[in-house]
Amino acid sequence: MTSKIVKYGSLLANAVRYDGAAVLAWRVLRQIVSPFGSLEAHVLLECDLTRDIRVPAAPPEITVRTALPEEMASVVAIEFGPDEPAGERRFDVDAAGMAALVATARSRMAVGDICIVAAAGSDIVHFSWLRFGTLPPVLARPVHLPDRECYLTDGYTVRRWRGRRLFDVVSAWALEEAKRRGYVRAYAMADFIKAPSRRMARRVGFFARGRVLVFRRRGRDDGLVLRLTGRADPLFHALW
Ligand SMILES: CC(C)(COP(=O)(O)OP(=O)(O)OC[C@H]1O[C@@H](n2cnc3c(N)ncnc32)[C@H](O)[C@@H]1OP(=O)(O)O)[C@@H](O)C(=O)NCCC(=O)NCCS
Repeated sequence: MTSKIVKYGSLLANAVRYDGAAVLAWRVLRQIVSPFGSLEAHVLLECDLTRDIRVPAAPPEITVRTALPEEMASVVAIEFGPDEPAGERRFDVDAAGMAALVATARSRMAVGDICIVAAAGSDIVHFSWLRFGTLPPVLARPVHLPDRECYLTDGYTVRRWRGRRLFDVVSAWALEEAKRRGYVRAYAMADFIKAPSRRMARRVGFFARGRVLVFRRRGRDDGLVLRLTGRADPLFHALW
């Protein structure tokens, strides 16, 4: 019980401190509709890679690079270390679950996706992914990226390195790498509740392509997508 109070207390404190009151109010609304399903607001972000990308300087002890398939076990594990915020986790994993995550990460690399890491010495302290071609379904609908377009996703910074703008450094590095490989456009997606992701995206040159509201019925993969502003493709198939 005490540990639950500590866990939710620290989540609340972080929400107020880093996300702001609007996000907190949205979280409350989501909680109210939660018996019926989940309500999500997403911003689809777009970056024109034909323009200059400003890559901010990394902290001196940090190296940014692409990861190798044989490093996936240590890369995937950083999200589950003992110091990481458990309340933030999408799921917990046992050894078999961890092996499955590593296998998935390797298979993503086998089809050409790139994992970019920031390392402090031999410690991996951040990972992000650049994905190409066909992505896993979003709300049970397949996603096919057009030629020379890519998707930046799944950023994670270990807790002790948060607040040092590694997310900006790695994201800008990834966009520069995509540009070098001939890609002309990058997408990213930020849940409205992830204010830090939206701020990072703005700083490295993304703009909002569109905003959507998603209602996912309880226990279902699919959902209703309403386009609030701009364009929802290629990630979402909106009702309008
Ligand atoms: C989102 C995430 C990758 C940001 O990583 P980061 O390297 O700390 O990025 P930044 O240093 O730019 O910090 C981002 C924001 O986090 C907040 N922040 C700063 N210090 C923090 C800390 N110690 N703990 C939590 N958040 C902190 C700040 O609001 C900061 O935003 P600002 O500088 O624009 O005000 C990281 O918080 C994370 O791994 N979160 C869990 C996974 C996740 O939600 N990923 C997003 C996928 S789209």
